[in-house]
Amino acid sequence: MTTMSAPAIGAGGHEAACDQSETRNLLQRIGDGWIRRAKVRREPIELCFDAARDDFLEERLPFHTHPGYRALDSATRTRILSAGWIIYNEKTVAIESAIVSPSCYDALDGRIPGLQPETIRHIVCETLVDEAYHLLLVANANRLTRTHRGLDDLRIPTFNLVRFMNREKAAYAEDWQKTLVHLATSVVSEIFVSDYLHQLSDCPHIQPMNTATVAAHRHDELAHSKIFTLLTETFYPALSPREQAFFADMLPKPIGWFADLELDIWASVLDQLGVPGAAGIIADCRPLNLAARSRLDYSRILGLSRDVGILDTAAGRDSFAAHGIAA
Ligand SMILES: [Fe+2]
Ligand SMILES: [Fe+2]
Repeated sequence: MTTMSAPAIGAGGHEAACDQSETRNLLQRIGDGWIRRAKVRREPIELCFDAARDDFLEERLPFHTHPGYRALDSATRTRILSAGWIIYNEKTVAIESAIVSPSCYDALDGRIPGLQPETIRHIVCETLVDEAYHLLLVANANRLTRTHRGLDDLRIPTFNLVRFMNREKAAYAEDWQKTLVHLATSVVSEIFVSDYLHQLSDCPHIQPMNTATVAAHRHDELAHSKIFTLLTETFYPALSPREQAFFADMLPKPIGWFADLELDIWASVLDQLGVPGAAGIIADCRPLNLAARSRLDYSRILGLSRDVGILDTAAGRDSFAAHGIAA
């Protein structure tokens, strides 16, 4: 099935900038710690719903300062916050099921050079267990929210993060190119997701069940962020020069996809909720989306790119610069 070249560590155009034995030792230690660390192995989360608390942080709504939103009555705003929580959760589901897990299976099925050693297969399997548990956490939280808030019928369309990744994959003919587009999206998502979860994980004012759900998820994702950084340090030197150049060109793209404000989803949701003036509110927020990427802290993506050698090449620096990211 795969057409990616056979793994050959050190065969790439860039000498491995990272110490491979140190990288492997770190992966081994993180993998060995999973049995004590992973939330799936720990106490279950208290799922107590407090109807008096808001389900989401108003500041996380892309339109929270818009006069049309501020003029809404408090019952409508509370309902929008509940929908915001459901959208927030569904984005994590999309990251886990449509983005990260397929890359994990690509690694286990031998489609990613350099990731075949048993130590790495072990940690990839642990990561898949974590992501399956996160799906359960989020499903429980969303089910309770939908039931208590009367939002059982709220539909969440496909996220741009997933649509843009799939559109990019469709633009390439070769399987190895599609695998690397998907992998770049997974690496970026796993590095950003803990920051995404941090927005709610220690917020004392919202629904306690929601904070507990996000904090548990983030606990695991802090490890995943490190794992995907170390996996990149492992597979990148094993890519051929052509594959390295393709991956370097691809890596900055998902930063913008991840940062997208997902206004089309909000347009659909506000419409489903019958919010007056919804189309105007969303239209006024469109310009905000153009600067969404600049609100992300992508220093760890840059650091990783520097560590593996992507930024040592003119092509690598150019690919980041083309997306407005100064290396
Ligand atoms: Fe997760
Ligand atoms: Fe993860």
